[in-house]
Amino acid sequence: MILCFSASLLGMTFCLTCQLWKFVRGAINLLMNIYRAEFKPMGGYLTDGGEVLLERVEHFIQAVAIHEEQIFRKRARIQKAYENNEDRRRAQGETSEENQYVDMVKLGEPGFRERYYAEKFREEAESKPIDQVQRDVVQKYAEGLCWVMRYYYQGVCSWQWFYPYHYAPFASDLKNLTEFEITFFLGQPFKPFDQLMGTLPAASSNALPKHYGDLMTDPNSPLNYFYPKDFEIDMNGKRFAWQGIAKLPFIDERRLLAETQKLEDTLTEEERFRNTTMFDIIYVRETHPLAAQIAFLYQMYSQQMITDPSYCVPIDPAASGGMNGFLCLSQRNWYSISVGSPVKGFNGITNNRVLNATYVNPQYHKHIPEPPEGAIIPPKILKPYDFKPFPVLWHEDNSRRQTRDRPQVHGALTGSV
Ligand SMILES: *[C@@H]1O[C@H](CO)[C@@H](O)[C@H](O)[C@H]1NC(C)=O
Ligand SMILES: *[C@@H]1O[C@H](CO)[C@@H](O)[C@H](O)[C@H]1NC(C)=O
Ligand SMILES: *[C@@H]1O[C@H](CO)[C@@H](O)[C@H](O)[C@H]1NC(C)=O
Repeated sequence: MILCFSASLLGMTFCLTCQLWKFVRGAINLLMNIYRAEFKPMGGYLTDGGEVLLERVEHFIQAVAIHEEQIFRKRARIQKAYENNEDRRRAQGETSEENQYVDMVKLGEPGFRERYYAEKFREEAESKPIDQVQRDVVQKYAEGLCWVMRYYYQGVCSWQWFYPYHYAPFASDLKNLTEFEITFFLGQPFKPFDQLMGTLPAASSNALPKHYGDLMTDPNSPLNYFYPKDFEIDMNGKRFAWQGIAKLPFIDERRLLAETQKLEDTLTEEERFRNTTMFDIIYVRETHPLAAQIAFLYQMYSQQMITDPSYCVPIDPAASGGMNGFLCLSQRNWYSISVGSPVKGFNGITNNRVLNATYVNPQYHKHIPEPPEGAIIPPKILKPYDFKPFPVLWHEDNSRRQTRDRPQVHGALTGSV
């Protein structure tokens, strides 16, 4: 996914548009100040049990957006100063910098919103009025927030969903979010080779079975369009190529699968095996508390006390350090004291002390956002060291000195006593 939104902090999901996020220093300070000031007006938390409360999120982001222009303007001033300095150095022959980046958008200078959408969504704007494009960008962005939140709290809610743009909207554009009807369809995960087809560049095609690799590199391949040899990297205000935005086409899943399905027969048996979705494996050292449970499973199988191949036992959370789920044995699990190396040229292991078992996820349940039963909540007491003065917000600090953020004291609050 090409998104840079969303981090979870104190149970709130905050998000900023990429545009804003990468320009503002002390972003956490800004967000925390706003979050604290707006907590009551917006009616409480931004999320509930993994669901994003879009009405509150909109309130919060609009409060952030008030600072947006000021941040861009300060950033523009810094950029100007930097460019002037570069001009001076070039004039003195200190640097050449041949490939100079031309910023067409000029965030913070009048009319930047219109220029941003016209410039960054040029292709989309060919087939749709720009305000419709903008609205769709906002909708997809809001969907992205919900997708990420659910992903972290409840698991994948759609295997197919992706953010279909290279750029984010402005914070100030995130309006009327409750108008959107946001529904996800679960779909199915990709098989390993299809997944690699969707993520590897053509230059790594040798990592795939031959016919798959050919789909990437052959100029006559029907998928040729997805793997351009040459593509634009939009520096988007950044200095180094790896920070830029690679303008690669989004891979159309149906077209990809239609082609790779034809290749199934060309796989060797080993490749076919690699191409299957398998369960996770858990590896446990013999001295680990969980090892006894696994050893017992092995023993039951070897004495043929279990014949059902799908037999699983719940993991004892006291032995696993709180991890839940199930342990099962499959054909891939056995124990022997010596293990040959799968990599040529490496010695095998002669004194193996590690057991392996198949791991199956715990049964699905909705995230429960409350302390577990029996948790002892400490009394609410503020000590003098819990307080610090409000930090100066980066974009509101107009002094010329280099402002450095104070070192963060873990768990400390900012504010005046
Ligand atoms: C949001 O909704 C209001 C009221 O329906 C409307 O006037 C406004 O144009 C909408 N804004 C956007 C960006 O959709
Ligand atoms: C292997 O890959 C093909 C194409 O990606 C897929 O259609 C097929 O279902 C996979 N085979 C297995 C056994 O999973
Ligand atoms: C499990 O461990 C045995 C050695 O005890 C090893 O040969 C086998 O490959 C392991 N299985 C997996 C899936 O790693």
